[in-house]
This record gives sequence, structure tokens and C-alpha cells, in this order.
Amino acid sequence: MLSHLLARAGVESIVLEARTHEEIRTTHRAGILEDQAVRLLTETGVDSRVRSLGDEHTGIDLRFAGESHPLDFHELVGATVTLYPQNEVFVDLAATRARDGGDVRFGWTVTALADLETERPRLTCTDAEGVEHEIVADVIVGADGSRSLCRRAVDGAQDYRTSYPFAWFGILAEAEKSAAELIYTNSPHGFALISQRSETVQRMYFQCDPEEDVADWSEDRIWSELQRRVAGADGFELATGPILEKTVLPFRSFVREPLRHGRLLLAGDAGHTVPPTGAKGLNLALADVALLGEALAAWYVDGDVRPVDAYSDKALRRIWRAQHFSSWMTAMLHTPPDADPFSIRRALGELETLTSSPGGMQHLAECYTGWPNT
Ligand code: DHB
Repeated sequence: MLSHLLARAGVESIVLEARTHEEIRTTHRAGILEDQAVRLLTETGVDSRVRSLGDEHTGIDLRFAGESHPLDFHELVGATVTLYPQNEVFVDLAATRARDGGDVRFGWTVTALADLETERPRLTCTDAEGVEHEIVADVIVGADGSRSLCRRAVDGAQDYRTSYPFAWFGILAEAEKSAAELIYTNSPHGFALISQRSETVQRMYFQCDPEEDVADWSEDRIWSELQRRVAGADGFELATGPILEKTVLPFRSFVREPLRHGRLLLAGDAGHTVPPTGAKGLNLALADVALLGEALAAWYVDGDVRPVDAYSDKALRRIWRAQHFSSWMTAMLHTPPDADPFSIRRALGELETLTSSPGGMQHLAECYTGWPNT
């Protein structure tokens, strides 16, 4: 996305991507885009199918104590979200860069960074055939994910992190939709999320032990675990079918401050990671590069360095809001393995308070759909 935005401003870039196009295209990740992420894709000339294939969602269902509490984002804050999988966003962006003659190198691995405090930072990398290269640039953007090599090349910065005593077990299943909206459920057996991908393929998650082995989970065991977490007096039942994929997703919160060291700028998971509850990861990464695209263009085109200098502070304001939202949603909906009856009942009390207060619902809707003016 950043490479595309820079190209529009007449700034050249090289994208080094360690994985292959096929690997990224077939790795299932999150699926919820805020309106501003959709606008970034549709209003900057990305050849995106988000409007035709994406599914606009006007709300979610918060389900606890076996009861559904629908939240209508459109009614509460006049915004919606769009379900369009991250791997499809990637396919669109890669096609757009290919269309425009962008220099995107798949299978290239960065091995070291140097001279970050100078005006000519450089990196060494190996290409898909294992041949070593050196690239000298004006700026290096580390958008290399939560285990970022770029981030680790910098000493002395402040890292904030916390871990969680659970993870998500994610499945992709061939089944009909179980509901029109996404269901986030808090149950005595732990959290579950019922999401979707299409009329015939569904995405669901349930809270599990971080060390859980997917091989121990048969289809029957997965379906009965999900069903017992969404069960309620209303007799709600999941539509089931063959399970196409199962994975355990790690859970962590992390922020690096600042997001800049000399001529190295960090974006996306390289600079900050959120737990998946609330689907902020991809949206934050897109918000980072929207800022960076403008900032680097101002520098190159107008010689104005102020937006680049302001990038870290500006991006971090949104990042900390999203950190708060993601850990709050996580705490309210999950049941830690050692939870005592008080903390379980307290989380239900919080959900009761939230769903019975227009202000509370509005706050959640505002966070879930994004912060347009941040
Ligand atoms: C999805 C993932 C999330 O983390 C979330 O909060 C909502 C939806 C998804 O993959 O569909």
C-alpha cells in the first residue's frame, strides 16, 4: 500500500517481501476493514474488489449469558465496517503494483540494516535464489511484521508488551452463514467469535490454550466446543460443515516507542501488535502507511520534513487507542484459565452495563468502526 501511495506521488520504492505471493494469498488472516481503510483502497486508485466482493456490516452481536445483544453501528455512530479478507486486500495491492510497474520482490529476505543514523541507510538481503545484495536508500520502512528484523536493529528504544494466558483456535469451514452479523460471545466455557467469509465459507474462532495442538481437535470436537459457547435459551444453533483449515493464533499486545530511528520508520505489526479481538491489526497498519505516504510525499515533493518528524507521535495516538480497545474487548469477552467466580461475574456485569447504556454502546461502536479524525 505504501509503495503504491509513494508511486502516486512520484517517489520510487522497492518492496522486499520474504514470502511468495502464493504463501501470502493462501494465508488466512483477519477480515474486518474500517470505512477509512475501504476508502484508502478505493480512493487512491487501487484496483480493489472490496466494493464488489466485500460485505458491508452495520453492526455486531454481543452475546453473553446465552443472550444476544445487537449493536447497530450505523444507528449509533453513522459508520459501518466491511468484511473483506486480508489476503484479498493483498491480492488487490499486488495486482495494482504489478499494473503500475512497481518493484515488488517476492522471496527476498532482509538480513541486516546499517547506517540508519546517516542520510544513506542501507540493508543487505538475499534474493529468491539466495544471492546476496545490498540496497542503499534515502529511507527504510520496516513493515516486516511482529518479529521485525528492522525493529530489532535498533537499541535503546522503549518496548511495551503484555501477554495473555490464552490464544484463538481459528477455523475456516464450508458451511452456511449462522447469522447475518458477527457474533462475539462471552460464555462460561470461554470466548467464541462467529465470523464469515462468503455464503458458503465461514470463519470462526474460540479461545484456547496457547499450546493447543490442532491435531487433537476433530471436526466433531470443534463443532461441539463452538456450539456450547454460543448456546442459549433462544436455542441458537451454528450451521456446520467440513472444516477446511485450523490454526492457533498467538495473542499479544506490543508497542515500540518511538516508531522512528534516524532514517528507519516502522509501520504495522513491526511497530505494534494488538490481540485479534476487534480486528484492529490490518486497519492500524493501513492507517500507519496512509500517514507515512503523505509524510514522505511532503518531504520528497515539497521538501517539508515536518510530517515525517510528526509521524511517530501521530501514529501512536491511534495505536494506543486501538491497544486500549483491543485489550478491553479481550478482557470483557475472554475467561482466563485461572479466573475465579468473581472475575467471571464481573466481566458479565461490564457487558450488562455496556449494553444497557447508550453511551457505552456508542463508545464501542466508535472504537470498532475506527477513529476517522485521529
Ligand atoms: C475476524 C477477525 C477478528 O479478529 C475480528 O475481531 C472479527 C472478524 C475475521 O477474521 O473475520
